[in-house]
Amino acid sequence: MFGVIIAMAYLLIRCADYNENNTASQALINLGYVGSQSCEGCHSNVYKEHMSSAHFNTSGPVKIDSIKNNWKLYNGAYKFPDGDWVESRYTNEGVYQVAHTSMDSVKQKADVYFGFGRHAQSFAHWEGNTLVQLPLTYFNNAQGWYNSPGYPDKVFLNRVITSRCLECHTSYAKVTEQKGLVEKFDPASVMYGIDCEKCHGPGAGHVEWANRSNNDSSDKHIIKAGNFSRQQSIDLCALCHSGVMSNLKPAFSFKPGDKLSEFYAYNLVATSVEDLDVHGNQYGLLSMSKCFERSEMTCISCHSPHNDETNNIKAFSQKCMSCHTQQHNFCSFKGVNKDMLTGNCISCHMPEKESRSIVFKEQGTGKALAAIMRTHVIKIYPEEAKKMIAFIKQ
Ligand code: HEC
Ligand code: HEC
Ligand code: HEC
Ligand code: HEC
Ligand code: HEC
Ligand code: HEC
Ligand code: HEC
Repeated sequence: MFGVIIAMAYLLIRCADYNENNTASQALINLGYVGSQSCEGCHSNVYKEHMSSAHFNTSGPVKIDSIKNNWKLYNGAYKFPDGDWVESRYTNEGVYQVAHTSMDSVKQKADVYFGFGRHAQSFAHWEGNTLVQLPLTYFNNAQGWYNSPGYPDKVFLNRVITSRCLECHTSYAKVTEQKGLVEKFDPASVMYGIDCEKCHGPGAGHVEWANRSNNDSSDKHIIKAGNFSRQQSIDLCALCHSGVMSNLKPAFSFKPGDKLSEFYAYNLVATSVEDLDVHGNQYGLLSMSKCFERSEMTCISCHSPHNDETNNIKAFSQKCMSCHTQQHNFCSFKGVNKDMLTGNCISCHMPEKESRSIVFKEQGTGKALAAIMRTHVIKIYPEEAKKMIAFIKQ
């Protein structure tokens, strides 16, 4: 089949239950959160789908039980040009990274993971109430441990995790102190993963409503993302999918339904595709497409908010054909037969590109290795059509 299917051997630490069994801690209950487990009984299908999604599993505490089966993956090392090296090591107590320099050896425990692992997985440890990132990241394409993206080319142990990072990779965290870039959090308040209540708001009032007999159905006490205007719907996703932004208001104050531009400064206007990275900026890329400009398209025109359909090229092509029917505005390319066209829209019009921010350096050679992602600039790429024809002829 045409299209590169990236081999996926997730580290799968999974099980991102923020506190035991996806129930909210007291710190979260005080804010009106109940935890996704409370939603399971009445919304079992959505709940089931969501549990296996990249969103739900994008961060969580590192749990020894859930990584035992993959322990071999956690043993590895990365050597720097100056001879210093860092190893990742699995023991029965957990995963550690040990940095060996000419001066000494520093051992840090992986307490929290970031990233479901489709492309990569990074780790952090708690130093008091500050989260500090560990030096090595697991890079899935190369199936090994690498110096974390954006790091200098030497052992680096002091990168603090900011609330910006948590705003995109967790549902909530209470910032208790902020001094420059160094922030402290209340660890019990961290709601790992991107969960129901991130997109629908705290659910206590809704659960109470649903359990009341004779309830008034005009107000269900929950954010109805399905009733959003086009911009509200896009802004909810763009909160984490517009690349680099800076806070205009305190972290975590944006609520679904709010106007994103009142909370963050961001730059969607790019002069060329090269200005926008494939990493994390699907909104910026999509808004450069005619499809987006000339229709009412939102992110959920193609993506279910609860379920991943990754690598299902046919399912995505069906989404294209909900607007580009064979009768109206259809593909004008005559180089391949109709069956090849209808199953492969995204192979030619949303080709895979190298990310410029999820980039790793090969040890020894220094060669750059990048994560591969599909661009969201939907347009005509003549080169991709040629590649496909060449592929068919083989
Ligand atoms: C005791 C049962 C119950 C529980 C628990 C429950 N819900 Fe609901 N929920 C309902 C009912 C009933 C409706 C209304 C269904 C309808 O209008 O078709 C609903 C509707 C919704 C809607 C759609 C609202 C709309 O009108 O578009 C959302 C979103 C939602 N629930 C989210 C949640 C979340 C998130 C949780 C967990 C925090 C949760 N629910 C827990 C019963 C429940
Ligand atoms: C709170 C931040 C946040 C919000 C809000 C958010 N996302 Fe995401 N999304 C992420 C992060 C982080 C990832 C990467 C997850 C990973 O692989 O670890 C992601 C991954 C994805 C993926 C890739 C899933 C896969 O299979 O790899 C899709 C598609 C996606 N989001 C769509 C959406 C849509 C559509 C919305 C709006 C309804 C949305 N996101 C809202 C943060 C967010
Ligand atoms: C503006 C939101 C945002 C911020 C800030 C952010 N990320 Fe991400 N991150 C994403 C999205 C969205 C993805 C999904 C891949 C993509 O679209 O590039 C992602 C992907 C990842 C992945 C790969 C996930 C996978 O499944 O392969 C890792 C690891 C990661 N981020 C770690 C971090 C860490 C650590 C920080 C903070 C130091 C951070 N990210 C900051 C939005 C963000
Ligand atoms: C990334 C954001 C996001 C997350 C996380 C999320 N939802 Fe939703 N949800 C939405 C959006 C957007 C819609 C509107 C979908 C539409 O209009 O097609 C929606 C619709 C719904 C609905 C009403 C329509 C339906 O599909 O039944 C329910 C109920 C619901 N969500 C429950 C949940 C529950 C329960 C969870 C957690 C297990 C959850 N959602 C997690 C964004 C999200
Ligand atoms: C919500 C409706 C909608 C969806 C979904 C949609 N498109 Fe479009 N698309 C449009 C509209 C409208 C245009 C502009 C047509 C015009 O100029 O008359 C367009 C234009 C295009 C063009 C021409 C672009 C150019 O620069 O000339 C291509 C190619 C295209 N779409 C491919 C796709 C593919 C592939 C998908 C699925 C991944 C898709 N579209 C999904 C509405 C949509
Ligand atoms: C016209 C259809 C379409 C629309 C609209 C669309 N996407 Fe996508 N998206 C795709 C396809 C196709 C993929 C590739 C899926 C795969 O690799 O299997 C994708 C992949 C992604 C990924 C995974 C990137 C990666 O490889 O880590 C994220 C994140 C994402 N989309 C977010 C969004 C967001 C946010 C929006 C709205 C701003 C959006 N998408 C709008 C079709 C669409
Ligand atoms: C083999 C690669 C390939 C596939 C698969 C493919 N296209 Fe195209 N498409 C092209 C090329 C190349 C053009 C430009 C054709 C030309 O100008 O002769 C094009 C043109 C278009 C246009 C612009 C039409 C116009 O007259 O402006 C749209 C819309 C479009 N494609 C949508 C789709 C959709 C939807 C699918 C899936 C059903 C699809 N394409 C599948 C290569 C492809």
